[in-house]
Order: sequence, then structure tokens, then C-alpha cells
Amino acid sequence: MAKVIKVGKGATQYKVVIAKNALTKVNLLTPLKTKGKVLIITDSGVPKKYIDEVKLILKNNIKVFVYILPKGEKSKSFDSFIKIQEKLAELKFDRSDSLIGLGGGVVGDITGFCAATFLRGINFIQIPTTLLAQVDSSVGGKTAINIKQGKNLVGSFYNPSLVLISSKFLETLSEKEFKSGIGEVIKYAFIGNKKLYKLIQNNTDEIKSRELKILEEIVEESIKTKARIVTQDEKESGIRAILNFGHTFGHAIEAFNNYKNITHGAAITLGMIIASKVSYLEGHIKIHQLDNIINLIDSLGLNTNYKKYNFRDLKQYIMNDKKVSKGKLNLVLIDKNGKAFKTDSFRLKNIEKSFN
Ligand SMILES: NC(=O)c1ccc[n+]([C@@H]2O[C@H](COP(=O)([O-])OP(=O)(O)OC[C@H]3O[C@@H](n4cnc5c(N)ncnc54)[C@H](O)[C@@H]3O)[C@@H](O)[C@H]2O)c1
Ligand SMILES: [Zn+2]
Repeated sequence: MAKVIKVGKGATQYKVVIAKNALTKVNLLTPLKTKGKVLIITDSGVPKKYIDEVKLILKNNIKVFVYILPKGEKSKSFDSFIKIQEKLAELKFDRSDSLIGLGGGVVGDITGFCAATFLRGINFIQIPTTLLAQVDSSVGGKTAINIKQGKNLVGSFYNPSLVLISSKFLETLSEKEFKSGIGEVIKYAFIGNKKLYKLIQNNTDEIKSRELKILEEIVEESIKTKARIVTQDEKESGIRAILNFGHTFGHAIEAFNNYKNITHGAAITLGMIIASKVSYLEGHIKIHQLDNIINLIDSLGLNTNYKKYNFRDLKQYIMNDKKVSKGKLNLVLIDKNGKAFKTDSFRLKNIEKSFN
């Protein structure tokens, strides 16, 4: 049986369906709300067999088109956005037609933004195929493209009608992308999901060898945490901030590296160690909690070498973060009960010290 998690409230509520094994048993037609056409948007790095699998479950009653973007962050651009919109117009898509984003966060973000804007909004479904997209970007309704002044600067909040997940997709993911997704999974454990924390602690080898059963469990627990938080705070005016645990430092590490040679998950993993260290130096957690966090990250085979970076190099990026408001830096820290909270009350000296 598939697992179902509801996200959001009211008319824009949608389901995340975690299918057991393959996708075939899940009925896509109802949420597609269409008798007409579907455009599957994907990228060149997504194995072709997944496109065929989705086509197969759409059966014959729907006209299916496929649009393949070049893989990589560069595809989340105005250029791709316009090309897709023009394609939809050429194919005479109307409000009864739908988009499907089949791929990682890049595909999901641009598909969502195209769906939000074409004809002022058409139906779309997310079929996330990376671990990061399954536990993070496909849930929460954020859609975006990048402009040269910065990542995700243009976008909107726009919910899909369904998020369809299968852990089977994760079998073909590169080690680097798999580890990147694990970075976001452990974030949910660190910001308060104790069940997930234990599940990870007790199954590090099974996770590393990508056993389907454990992957399904950690994906489900991760989504439950994200769903609970974004349902409370759809437009990011409060509690949703705790999802940024480790991100102020992680974003600074990504920017310092010019967004090259380090994945988002790897950067925020180091960011979470630094944020945990600040939490310790500020007296919010005990030393053994800090050690446990670092040990757990290490036992999953993720890089823990945050000392490669120093405060001097990262300072300008840290202070440029979106979380700086009215000149004050806001940080997400954790407390002794393993709960995350946002605060602007800490000593800058302790941030500097946390890099040592
Ligand atoms: N909307 C949100 O809330 C949100 C949250 C987090 C991240 N994001 C965005 O997500 C993007 C990053 O997403 P990502 O990490 O999934 O990267 P990605 O989409 O670039 O995917 C990584 C690589 O994996 C390949 N791939 C995808 N599925 C595969 C599979 N099953 N097997 C083998 N290869 C596969 C892709 O072709 C790509 O080359 C960023 O643009 C980021 O801004 C958005
Ligand atoms: Zn993130």
C-alpha cells in the first residue's frame, strides 16, 4: 500500500503519495484533472526509463508530450522558462491541460513556475526523482527560476495537485547527489524529528547501501516534518524558518565556492555542524549532543570537515544572507530538547569561534 501525506489547507491542499516499489499502481489520472494533454518536463540526466514508466501509467487516454532540458542548475533560467511557455502555446495547452515535473529540484522548480504562470496558472504534478527533491523541493509549494543577480529570485508559491514518490528512482542516483539528499534528511532529524533521528542512527549501513525499505521510511518521516511545518506557515512568515537550519552557513559555503564542486546538501551538512557548534557555545546544547550530531553525520559517510573554511572567508556571505533583517543576523539554533528555534540573540564572537 502506498503511504499518503497531506500538505496544506483548504482548496490548495495536496497529497504526497509514496508508492511502494514502482509507480504503476498509482492512479495519476484523477489528479491530472484532464482528458486532454500533458507535458512532461524533465532533464537530460534523468534516466529515460523513468519517462517511459510515467507514460505507461498515463495509459492511452491522454496526449503526452515530453520536454527535455539540459541537466544542471543553468536550466532554471528565463531562457528555459520562455522556451517552455512558447512550447505550451504552440501545443495549444489550455486550462484543462497539465504539466508533470519529472526530475530533481531544478526540473521541479521550473515546472512549477511554468505551471503557476502559463494562462495565469494550470495544473501540475511533481514526480521528484532525486532524494533532495523527494524530501525537500517537491513539498512546500515554492517554485522559482534564477537570474544573474541571484538564485531563486523570481518565482511564486504554487502548489501541485499531487507529489508522487518512488524510492526506486533513487537507485540510479550518483553517490554525490544521494549524499546531498541525505544532508536534508538529517536536517529534519536535527530540528526535532526524534523518530527519524533514531531510524537513521540504527540503520546507517542500510541507508548507505540504499535499501528500499529504509529509504521509504526516512523519506516518509522527512516529508511528514516538512509537511507539518509548511502547512502551519505556507508563505514563510514564521515557523518555516527552522527549515533553514544550517543554511546561513551552508549558503555562505556554496557562494564562497561559486556554487561549484560542492552540492547543496554537502554545504548545509557543514553548515549544520557550525550551527550546532554555535548552539553549544551559546549554552543551548551539551557537548555530548554536539558530538552525537557530528558522529551521526560521519557514520553516514558524509564530509564533516567544516574546518576547511574559516570565518574570515565566509563572513561577507554570512552577512549577505536573506536572513539578515534590519541589519541583524538571524540564525536557527537548536536546544537541549533537540528543537530548532530562530534567534538574533547570540554573540558574533561565538560564530567566529565555531569555525575553530
Ligand atoms: N522549491 C524548493 O522548496 C526547493 C528546496 C530545495 C532546493 N530547491 C532547488 O532544487 C535544486 C536542486 O535540486 P537537486 O539537488 O535535485 O538537483 P538537480 O535537479 O540538478 O538534480 C541533480 C542531478 O541528478 C540527475 N537526476 C535526477 N534524478 C535522477 C535519478 N533518479 N537518477 C540519476 N540521476 C538523476 C539530474 O539530471 C541532475 O543532473 C536547486 O535549484 C535548488 O534551488 C528548491
Ligand atoms: Zn536546503
